[in-house]
Amino acid sequence: MKSSISFVCQECGYDSPQWLGRCPECGAWNSLKEFKVQSFLRSRISLRETKFKLEQGKEKLEEIKPKTLNEIKTSEKERLSTGFLEMDGVLGGGIVPGSVTLLAGDPGVGKSTLLLQIGLNLASTSFQKTQNTQHIRKSDNQIVRQSDSPSFPSVLKVLYISGEESAEQVKLRISRIYKGLEDNKNILILSSTDTDMIQGAIEKIKPNLVIIDSIQTMESESMGGLPGSVGQVRYAASQFIKSAKTLNIPIFIVGHVTKEGMVAGPMVLSHMVDAALFLEGEKFTNTRILRGLKNRFGPVDEVGIFTMEEKGIKETNAPEQLFLTKNLPNHVNGSVISVTLEGSRAFLVEIQALVVSSKIPIPRRVSSGIDYKRLELLLAVLQKHCNLPLGLMDVFVNVAGGLRLSDPGVDLGICLAIFSSFKNIPLSDTVAVSEVGLLGELREIQSLDKRVKEAQKLGFKNIISYDTHKILNEAIRSLSK
Ligand code: TYD
Ligand code: MG
Repeated sequence: MKSSISFVCQECGYDSPQWLGRCPECGAWNSLKEFKVQSFLRSRISLRETKFKLEQGKEKLEEIKPKTLNEIKTSEKERLSTGFLEMDGVLGGGIVPGSVTLLAGDPGVGKSTLLLQIGLNLASTSFQKTQNTQHIRKSDNQIVRQSDSPSFPSVLKVLYISGEESAEQVKLRISRIYKGLEDNKNILILSSTDTDMIQGAIEKIKPNLVIIDSIQTMESESMGGLPGSVGQVRYAASQFIKSAKTLNIPIFIVGHVTKEGMVAGPMVLSHMVDAALFLEGEKFTNTRILRGLKNRFGPVDEVGIFTMEEKGIKETNAPEQLFLTKNLPNHVNGSVISVTLEGSRAFLVEIQALVVSSKIPIPRRVSSGIDYKRLELLLAVLQKHCNLPLGLMDVFVNVAGGLRLSDPGVDLGICLAIFSSFKNIPLSDTVAVSEVGLLGELREIQSLDKRVKEAQKLGFKNIISYDTHKILNEAIRSLSK
């Protein structure tokens, strides 16, 4: 074993033999930190040993024989349900044996709560009774249960490793979430931050699911650097991945996100794992959105919707209408419904606009939930192509429910909400979906049918899109009558 010095970027994990002021990979300044790297030098293996291995490989060809495709058995059916249909959908149908999933998100968003609940779901026998079903989300917003018994043992053992909280704290959390599960014998809590010890524990206990909370607290004496540094995180992750693959145990790893929106320092982590999921949520709403950013075993653009409640995290019954304001008076100005596509699912969202005459030379444009530049562009289109004199008006646009929209399909909704507030014409029963181009034209968007169907399902009849009008001005004129 030999140790050498290496400089590792704390932002992206770039590795350099010498110190650099600026990381050539991600461009961050002053982000390279020195590490002592201990490497088991492969090159030390002598030529003779290599030759020996080669011979051995030839002899053992029978054992290690490469397979033709029809000889390979896929275990696609053997997925384990998390007990949350929304989570199963994001994973692509449940947990794959031996897979490593990173759950990232801001501190306090609910990562520990979600994973602990999944652990409890699997460890509790009452849940397992309903476990002979497998959930698969169909593209049309539904999840169907397929009866297909997964080949998992009837009693599932879950190992929850907490590097942030003591075992007592975890137990307190459990009693807050599920009453009566405090004495469950199938969930084991280990409060530790020692990577190597934890790896040993996993190999000894051989649980059916491991939860590591969080990767940033893990440290090993065989690595230099503090917990959370790239070296430590990378080492811990690679050790856990090794255990997952050799023992065929699925592992969930919690990762905190830094200010820059990256999984603390090492983006490398998301390259190493099989699936990387992000849990998002606004501070003032209890809605939590789970997104898949990478998934070797499922779709990447799927979303799951949860709400954070007093007693843990819950799935919502009708997520399609979660972002609509309930009991909105009928004749309110400045509100238009649009339909946004998140992954393969359509969600109705209410877009609110407020247009008032400005008292300052440069009028204010404030947007929340949509890109500010997009708002400016749409205002310019409204002014130029629809002759709306908005130049002297303050314009505020908000997406109700705290959802952040990047789908261009809501452009028309934004324009009509602004128009509704400006002209005092109530449009709150109108659904508008289309992208708006610079020439004031309504452009085609992805899955219009699905969006229209979703709106119709909730009883909306007045639906405006590029199917009903070719240009924005036409749509606006039809509404002013
Ligand atoms: P937590 O899961 O600890 O977040 P993370 O692991 O992502 O840092 O969640 C912490 C927040 O959730 C905290 O503000 C309290 C709140 N919470 C609830 O609202 N209900 C609950 O049942 C629990 C356990 C936590
Ligand atoms: Mg936590």
